[in-house]
Amino acid sequence: MSIEPTRIDSELAEYVREHASGRDEALRLVEDETAAMGDLQTMQTAPEQAAFLEMLVKLGRGRRAIEVGTFTGYGAIRIARGLADDGTLLCCELDPERAEVARRNVDRAGVGEKVEFRVGPAIETIRALPEEPTYDFAYVDADKTGYPDYYEALLPRMSPGGLITFDNVLMGGRILDADPDEGTAAMQGLNDLLVDDARVDSVMLGMADGLSLARVP
Ligand SMILES: C[S@@+](CC[C@H](N)C(=O)[O-])C[C@H]1O[C@@H](n2cnc3c(N)ncnc32)[C@H](O)[C@@H]1O
Repeated sequence: MSIEPTRIDSELAEYVREHASGRDEALRLVEDETAAMGDLQTMQTAPEQAAFLEMLVKLGRGRRAIEVGTFTGYGAIRIARGLADDGTLLCCELDPERAEVARRNVDRAGVGEKVEFRVGPAIETIRALPEEPTYDFAYVDADKTGYPDYYEALLPRMSPGGLITFDNVLMGGRILDADPDEGTAAMQGLNDLLVDDARVDSVMLGMADGLSLARVP
């Protein structure tokens, strides 16, 4: 098929970013603080994608959300803002220092009361949760080798109509590698599974580093 998408160079990407709505002072403070972390800053969810996550949560009228990999809390703030007033977000983060930073940031952004943190390997946190339909929204953004396991562990815990979202499904372009590293191979496996997994409806978006959505019927 030869339907050419618009080529998003860095100038156009910046234009998209600058038109992401809702980047208030609290979010810009997190952006600045994360930018000061040098190379680590690339781990932060892109502002336009974070705005999109908030929109998805709002559209789904979600009450219960879970994030796998929280870092400095940027995506968490937007997911929490998308939730109903009585909604809750469970943030799973391996690194206690990052969880502390994220806690401070979600508090400063005014959504702290909605957010709970569990520090440790996310797969253990998820598997320890009751295996019953609970979550309306999930955002998977941690170690890439773990994605297939996160998917299988989250599926039975999603409510009917719930949405699981996966960041970095393009792996910075490495998803096309014929001789992939471990993380890329895991992502290739997940992408190939999702495209015709009868348990979900899915769509892959070429936003930022690629975002896939899998909706549980
Ligand atoms: C890409 S960053 C997350 C970015 C974040 N979602 C945001 O919105 O900016 C990945 C995070 O996953 C965490 N992580 C890595 N392996 C993990 C694991 N096994 N369990 C939980 N968190 C993990 C890392 O410490 C890191 O903070």
